Amino acid sequence: MSSSIEISESVRHYYGQVLQSSQDLKTSACCSIDAMPDYLKALLADLHPEVLERFYGCGSPLPPALTGKTVLDLGCGSGRDCYLLSKLVGPSGRVIGVDMTPEQLEVAVRHQAWHAERFGYANVEFLHGHIENLHTVGIADNSVDVVVSNCVINLSPDKPGVLAEIFRVLKPGGELYFSDVFADRRIAAELRRDPVLLGECLGGALYWEDFRRILQDLGCPDARTVKQNPISIDDPELFAKIGMVKFNSVTVRAFKMALEDRCEDFGQVAVYLGGMDRHPHGFDLDDHHHFETGRPLRVCGNTADMLALSRYGAYFQVLGDKSRHFGLFDCAPGPQGSATSTDGACC
Ligand SMILES: C[S@@+](CC[C@H](N)C(=O)[O-])C[C@H]1O[C@@H](n2cnc3c(N)ncnc32)[C@H](O)[C@@H]1O
Repeated sequence: MSSSIEISESVRHYYGQVLQSSQDLKTSACCSIDAMPDYLKALLADLHPEVLERFYGCGSPLPPALTGKTVLDLGCGSGRDCYLLSKLVGPSGRVIGVDMTPEQLEVAVRHQAWHAERFGYANVEFLHGHIENLHTVGIADNSVDVVVSNCVINLSPDKPGVLAEIFRVLKPGGELYFSDVFADRRIAAELRRDPVLLGECLGGALYWEDFRRILQDLGCPDARTVKQNPISIDDPELFAKIGMVKFNSVTVRAFKMALEDRCEDFGQVAVYLGGMDRHPHGFDLDDHHHFETGRPLRVCGNTADMLALSRYGAYFQVLGDKSRHFGLFDCAPGPQGSATSTDGACC
């Protein structure tokens, strides 16, 4: 198995035929819901049990401030996150799920009317296609407010292609917010080709530095780590094959806007004004920027732009501009020595 088509076929077979529910997974790579905030856990009670049973995600890539927005879920599977997003965007918003595995989409589509009746509105559509080519499913340039994805990009044989498509379809200022499996090194070719390692989201796991380079080439030099959890490989056979690699489930935030490759100090300050749904006391931009409501925080130029030029701008006051420069911004470091250290890329 080496061509893109063979890899896609192998992944489709794994999610369409091999797995029937989350219980069939051999690692905790897919399916860790530990990071889900309580307000999202409460929404799960409104979802159809079959949709929940076939959830294979590795995080909770569901950001706040979504009311009325258009959200695209790449590799939506049986639709769990799409239906959660349906509630978060509300009746004036729109959710689009794309997946290439008919068996997964069939479950999502079969429960569309059930969720519409329960929620009192219908704002979710599911499209059959490949996330490497969103043209084919009709997603236009600059048309989406937020792209989310849960444990999918690792499975793609063309990660630069997927990320290029994401930045094509996002509106200026739009947000990419996704959870995926990252490895602390590049994975050897023979392990990448192993169908079980691939299907379990290990063989194709992203190496942070390569991910960072792809984004940089696409004009996005500053992606932020929001959360990360280690993944355990309890299956002895899988551990024997790939136990030398450390894996993390990581939630990443990036924006479609012009940013610098380092954090520069322009003496800017940001204040979270409150008002974001379910975030009365504060907002975490990433794993080292906690904005307490009403409390000014010194920020680098990139952070100032992420807050001011995205949809979060409605909830922040950003003071100062870029007319005076004070040198590099002395940022709090990212997680040291982890698989996903962001040292050097951003604060
Ligand atoms: C690990 S599952 C995650 C599903 C869903 N996001 C969830 O959280 O339950 C991966 C999903 O991505 C889909 N997928 C993988 N590669 C894809 C691609 N290149 N294009 C479209 N869908 C893809 C698979 O069909 C599968 O449904």
